[in-house]
Amino acid sequence: MNEMKLIFKSRLENEAFARTCVVAFLAPLHLSMETLMEIKTIIAEGVVNAMIHGYEGKEDGDIALEVCYDEEIIIIDLFDQGCGIANIEQAMQPLYTSRQDLERSGMGFTIMQTFADVFHVDSKPGVGTNLHIEKKLL
Ligand SMILES: Nc1ncnc2c1ncn2[C@@H]1O[C@H](COP(=O)(O)OP(=O)(O)OP(=O)(O)O)[C@@H](O)[C@H]1O
Ligand SMILES: [Mg+2]
Repeated sequence: MNEMKLIFKSRLENEAFARTCVVAFLAPLHLSMETLMEIKTIIAEGVVNAMIHGYEGKEDGDIALEVCYDEEIIIIDLFDQGCGIANIEQAMQPLYTSRQDLERSGMGFTIMQTFADVFHVDSKPGVGTNLHIEKKLL
């Protein structure tokens, strides 16, 4: 499998950076526009969640993004060492948001789940959050 690892700060401008890096890394796969759009959306939702929820807007947190692929599958892992999620089941409910004050819609996890073939959230309050996403290509 081809593999890459990226660590960047939790600054909002790095959301576009992360998306662009992943698209460039996956270029050899010649993915369809639709698949690329789905992957970019997954990265954007996950990275923004780490920034605004995990690190609560603080810009000095580290976000790690690991992507690997072969001709059959793309595997994405996203890690933050932010506040973590106390109730993962509740957080994953469509329309649930802990930040109504930020006018979030609470649809990030639902959208990511829709576009992924495998979607796991692992999180511990005070430790951080890991998203594991698999997208099958065959
Ligand atoms: N990385 C994270 N660290 C801590 N909490 C998180 C993280 N990701 C998600 N959450 C929690 O899960 C909730 C649901 O996330 P989701 O992305 O579905 O909705 P949202 O971010 O609130 O709104 P939207 O994504 O539609 O703007 C968040 O409101 C937040 O409480
Ligand atoms: Mg979100």
